Amino acid sequence: MRKKVTVRTLLNMKKSGERIAMMTAYDFPTANLLSDAGLHVLLIGDSLGMVVQGHDTTVPVTVDHMVYHTNMVSRGADGPLIVTDLPFMSYHASLEVAMRNAARIMQEGGAHAVKLEGGREMATTVSHLVDAGVPVMAHIGLTPQSVHALGGFALQGKTLESAQRILDDALALEAAGAFAIVLEAVPAQLAALVTQRLTIPTIGIGAGPGCDGQVLVFHDFIGYTSGYIPKHNKRFADLADMIQGAAKAYVEEVTNGTFPEDAQTVRLDADAWDALSLQLKGEPDAAN
Ligand code: KIV
Repeated sequence: MRKKVTVRTLLNMKKSGERIAMMTAYDFPTANLLSDAGLHVLLIGDSLGMVVQGHDTTVPVTVDHMVYHTNMVSRGADGPLIVTDLPFMSYHASLEVAMRNAARIMQEGGAHAVKLEGGREMATTVSHLVDAGVPVMAHIGLTPQSVHALGGFALQGKTLESAQRILDDALALEAAGAFAIVLEAVPAQLAALVTQRLTIPTIGIGAGPGCDGQVLVFHDFIGYTSGYIPKHNKRFADLADMIQGAAKAYVEEVTNGTFPEDAQTVRLDADAWDALSLQLKGEPDAAN
């Protein structure tokens, strides 16, 4: 049994300069393996809409999907903090809607915290959730739920104005009570500056090495995709090649009759087979 990572653990890690390792997970076996490998935070990201469901964006993902996947991950993980994305439009209509959906993710899914996208405009929502006992991780920079408003999955904070906005958003979210902030696709110097200015940890993805922690999307990290690989990703393994190689070998062995072999086959012993053959003798489908 691992010592449980809590929101407080992450704050202490920032204070002591210990880096935070976060990864997305969407199911039981992955959560089990990542948890045993020592991940500090598992994120049930709405990226599942793209890497698991096969959509082009995260927009089609619903609260039901997030609850379903969180439930599997929370059964598989023992130790990491479990954070789940509030998906597109599940926290905008009213504070009540945001509270209800966060409650579902924690009560039905088993998450310890929620993540939501957006800057200072989300500060009121964050503080209401936090006041109600829901730990909130914020997410700024490239916010994939706004992909259509942003005009694509592009680097953010490149101009003085947008860099200033990202810094101000981070400060507003910290003041509202967020316990950590994901910085996605922002220049490394800006991410390092935001990290220095905050007392809560920053978790970077495509934001350089100056953040307090890093997060990767599981399927990208493990090379379990045949599609587009973001520039910020480092493939730590090549599962796509392994799976395809194994699948081709399987097709070959099934079609040429070399699988199953003796090792995968169970046979009756000779006496039992003789008795069965005797009993079946004379029946239309008898085995000779
Ligand atoms: O949905 C997700 O996986 C995320 C990470 C990319 C941070 O939000």
